[in-house]
Order: sequence, then C-alpha cells, then structure tokens
Amino acid sequence: MIDAIKIREDFPIFKNSPSLIYLDSAATSQRPEVVIDTLKEFYENYNSNIHRGVYSLSFEASRRYEKAHYKVAELINAEGREIVFTKNTTEAINLVAYAYGLYNIKEGDEIVTTIMEHHSNFIPWQKMAELRKANLKLIPVNKSTCELEFDERIITEKTKIVALSLASNFMGTINPVKEIIKVAKEKGSITVVDAAQAVPHIPVDVKDLGCDFLAASGHKMLGPTGTGFLYGRKELLESIEPFIMGGGMIEDVTVEDSKWAEIPWKFEAGTPDIAGGIALGEAAEYLKNLGMEDIFEHEKKLTSVCLEKMKEIEEVELYGPAPEKRVGVISFNVKDADFHDIAGMLDSEGVCARSGRHCVHPLLNFLGIEGSVRVSFYIYNTEEEIERFIEILKKIISYLK
Ligand SMILES: Cc1ncc(COP(=O)(O)O)c(C=O)c1O
Repeated sequence: MIDAIKIREDFPIFKNSPSLIYLDSAATSQRPEVVIDTLKEFYENYNSNIHRGVYSLSFEASRRYEKAHYKVAELINAEGREIVFTKNTTEAINLVAYAYGLYNIKEGDEIVTTIMEHHSNFIPWQKMAELRKANLKLIPVNKSTCELEFDERIITEKTKIVALSLASNFMGTINPVKEIIKVAKEKGSITVVDAAQAVPHIPVDVKDLGCDFLAASGHKMLGPTGTGFLYGRKELLESIEPFIMGGGMIEDVTVEDSKWAEIPWKFEAGTPDIAGGIALGEAAEYLKNLGMEDIFEHEKKLTSVCLEKMKEIEEVELYGPAPEKRVGVISFNVKDADFHDIAGMLDSEGVCARSGRHCVHPLLNFLGIEGSVRVSFYIYNTEEEIERFIEILKKIISYLK
C-alpha cells in the first residue's frame, strides 16, 4: 500500500513548501531526493563523457549510464538494449516516425491513430502522412464516456503504423491498447504506444502488450527534466535506420559510408544527458520498489474520491470515464468561468493545477470545448489534499456567484 505521507518525506520540495498542493504531475512530476542526489553525485564525483575515454572516470560514467538503461527496462519488462534514452516522449515518437515511418510508409498506405492523442503522438504522424502521401485515419472517441470507439475494420492490410496512447493526458482514459495491438499485428502493422501518462502510473509490460515501440517521459516519472525513453523491439531497432546522426553512434565511418554502432547507441548520437539518464534509472528503481500495482490503486482511490466530490458541485462540468477506467487525471470546467481564471484562483490558494488546451486541439474541437482545468495525482498526493482542493474550488465558485 502507498503511504503518501511517508513518501512525501523523500521529496525535498514538500519539505521546502509544506503547504504546497501539487496537482499537476501529468505535466511533470516532483523528484525524490535520491534522484536529485544522483545528479549531484555525478557532477561531483565522476563527471566525464561516456563511451569515449579509456580512463577510469569515464568507465564509471559509462557503466552507470548503461546500467540506467537496464533499470528502466526492468520497470516495463524489456531488455536493457531495447531502451533508447531520449529527451522526452516527443523525441521518442519523432524517432520512430523518422527512423521507421519515413523509410517504410509508401503512397496510399495508412497510419491509424486516435482523436484523443497528445500532439506529440499526432503531429509526427500527420506530417509523415503528408510527406509519404499516406492516409491518416482516426479512431473516434465516444463523446459521453470519452472512451475509444474501436472498430477493427479501421486497421487494414494498408496500415503501416498504429500509434495510440495507453492513457489520455486530457481525461485519463486507459485505452484497450492490447486489443488494438493484436488486430494491428494480424494486419502486419507496426505499433507505437505513447505511454507518457501510463508508465509513471500503472503497470506496463511491453511483452504482454505486444507493442513494437513504446515512448515515455522520464520527467513525468520522478526523473529529471530533459529525460525520456523509447522502447523498441530489438529486431526492429537493429533493422531500422538511425534518426539523428553524428558522434557516438557509429562503428566505423569512411568517406563513402558509415556503419552504425550496436543498439541502443546507434540511436543516441552526440553527448547525451548523462547525469539525467543515470538519475532516470534511479527514478525507475524507486517506482519499481514502491510497486506499480500499489501506485495505480492509490491513484484510483484519490481519483474516485475527487470525482465523487466534484460530481456534487452543480457548476462543475466533468469529462472522462469512470475512475476505474482512468489514470489519476481529471479535466473539468466551471460553468460560465474561464479555465485560466479558475487555475489562477486555485494558485492563489496554493493549488497547482494546469489549465489550457493540453496539447489535444483535435480532441477539444471534437468535444466542442475551448479547454479545461486539469488536476492530476501521484504517489505523494493525499486524500486531505483532495479535500482541501474541493473546499477551495467551492469557495472560488461561491465567490464567482
Ligand atoms: C500522453 C502524452 N504524450 C506525450 C506527451 C509529451 O511529453 P513530453 O513533453 O515529455 O515530450 C505528454 C505530455 O504531457 C503526454 O501527456
């Protein structure tokens, strides 16, 4: 079971700002001391470049950086060399689009995604469809339940890519990704899972999902900003071209040709965020030790308590499915009020909530709304914080009246 009060002791930000109610972990999480200390330890004790020096400091940095890939891999049941470190989910998905899509999508092919995607998993495919003269097809969303309306006929023999999110950043919906991947595989399509809102919050097993690629952001899972990763099935990673080219990703270069380094290094050109990568490994280990099942249970409880209380407030408009079908994300509006104003008023009472269009413009257009306020929960949030948030929200609404 998750003991959020005890977990908070691991997070310096809550010691420094005890009254802070941080409800924006879907944007970026807070970081535990072990992650912050790992960054400091790198710069203070073995700062050096990796895979380049024959001196012991560089060996130590390389060893720890490589090990971090294994720690991330363990969290999602992958192999260490199947993990490519990137700076975020966005870069990871663009990597797949350009390293796989550009070479394999032909005129008349199809790319299937959903209308609920974050722009990171939408625009790269929109662009790839334009570049390769392919068709972008969208799995629709049910307007009232905010769940995908998947009809397997949308995936055909022409489908080359099926790209979809495991959990929505707008309404938290957990999508039936495994079922969709099964259909995609039967039709011979490659699958790309945007797990930015899933890896930090629910158990994710890439072997069980059967996906080809999966992307996530380190900074949403307790790791440093500027970190993220791409999982790729090793046969695929080995067979595709690199995305970014330069130093550190080659085995040999002649005037005529270049030979790539082994995976995952062929996808990590240039000097990476070494300290960040090592600290991301610590974050993954921290989550694994807490237990992803327990984390999911904790968030489900907070979400269901919060949703129940919000439903009782007449002026609140809620979006998204039932609590058991979502991660800890709640998007809402207050009738006749601007979402930024509500977030600003929440801030003046010490509550950090996101407001705006959440990088899901096609979804908002479909739902016919301008944007929303979004609260999102994590391992360090407590029921007391939810109660306080509800009190403050009610106070704001009565003030607006
Ligand atoms: C579902 C989803 N996909 C992709 C992203 C993009 O993540 P990043 O900004 O770390 O690239 C986000 C960020 O909020 C997200 O929620």
